[in-house]
Amino acid sequence: MSKTLKIDRARLQRELDELSLITEGTPPVVTRVLFSEADLRGRDFVKKLCREAGLTLRQDAVGNIFARWQGTDKKHAVGTGSHIDAIPNAGKFDGVVGVLGAIEAIRALKRSGFKPTRSVELTVFTAEEPTRFGLGCLGSRMLGGVLSADKAARLADREGKNLAYWRKRGGCKGDLKSVRLPKNVYDAFVELHIEQGPILEQKKLDIGIVEKIAAPSTLRLQLTGVGGHAGATLMPGRRDAGLAGAEIALAVERAATTTGSPDTVGTTGIFRIEPGAVNSVPCKAYLEIDLRDTNVKTRNAALKEIEAAARAICQRRKIGLVMERVNMDPPAICDARLVRTVAEVCGELKISCRRMISRAYHDSLFMAQVCPTTMIFIPCYKGYSHRPDEYSSPAQIEKGVRVLAETLARAANG
Ligand code: HGY
Ligand code: MN
Ligand code: MN
Repeated sequence: MSKTLKIDRARLQRELDELSLITEGTPPVVTRVLFSEADLRGRDFVKKLCREAGLTLRQDAVGNIFARWQGTDKKHAVGTGSHIDAIPNAGKFDGVVGVLGAIEAIRALKRSGFKPTRSVELTVFTAEEPTRFGLGCLGSRMLGGVLSADKAARLADREGKNLAYWRKRGGCKGDLKSVRLPKNVYDAFVELHIEQGPILEQKKLDIGIVEKIAAPSTLRLQLTGVGGHAGATLMPGRRDAGLAGAEIALAVERAATTTGSPDTVGTTGIFRIEPGAVNSVPCKAYLEIDLRDTNVKTRNAALKEIEAAARAICQRRKIGLVMERVNMDPPAICDARLVRTVAEVCGELKISCRRMISRAYHDSLFMAQVCPTTMIFIPCYKGYSHRPDEYSSPAQIEKGVRVLAETLARAANG
């Protein structure tokens, strides 16, 4: 197979470039938040490529897009996919490589005359990024049965617009209860993605094969103090919500750096104060905290430490505190047999590889709840991601697509 498999690197690069221009930002900044006008145009662009590739399209009730290459065995399928939504001020490769790369992998297999026994299905997942509702992987959580239809229906954005509002804008029809996939809906699921870390580049390796996906958790805190005139409100007795938030953000850093595990990472990624006037004491603060580790016990212990610190800080500063655990996901263990298949493909193609952990979370974290799953990583420049200078070269992308194509072919006909 590998001899005849030709990856059209130039065409794939053109499509990556074209999709990157569909953004709420100014290129090279990519921003595509769930069902924004840019996200909708991006989805239309991908659907057009899928139709041109001869795939059968459908969209589920929460906007996950499925593009299927029907095999001779109508009952079984193998899956691949990723996301095209992007956080504010992002790059052009996160998620997109796994969607456009999968379309090119399927086109290359078709051009080579390959005929799948099991169908091959590409999924473009809804809202892998947490930007819209503060919860990542909305589409894959629901597919994996980790987020119920009722709980999803209660999600709302900062302006209070709920999921129903955004589903209407996204043209989503049907009952949210129909989203959940049956167990083993796919005999294998393989996601191609940039590493979003520096290891492959530092080790000069072409491919990472993911064995485990780190366990993400998110805390949301609303702090309420007492505002006042910055000049007339003397320091003693102030109840400054901004300073309480600042202490909590430092407590996050302390908790994440004292677990003894290098895999614990803590980030206060959202920190807003009100009223946000230079001459007014902050009466409110809003924090969203992202905490992860590959070991769920270590992560949960650090989370409890942060919660205890937040309560103590707010008590001492007489600040009102509403704290909510948005998600506390378990890590995903990838399928050993699939990992071996990817390693064999790399060996036969003489493409260097190593097994590794994913520190970023992905839709595969939830697909692993319903089917055997692994991920194929390609290097990215200095490990940069979630920033406009995120970069993987056409040659690196081509290798990833080739390994994906070969892996899908074996999973489909093996
Ligand atoms: O945050 C993450 O790990 C993913 O890139 N959304
Ligand atoms: Mn991302
Ligand atoms: Mn991603």
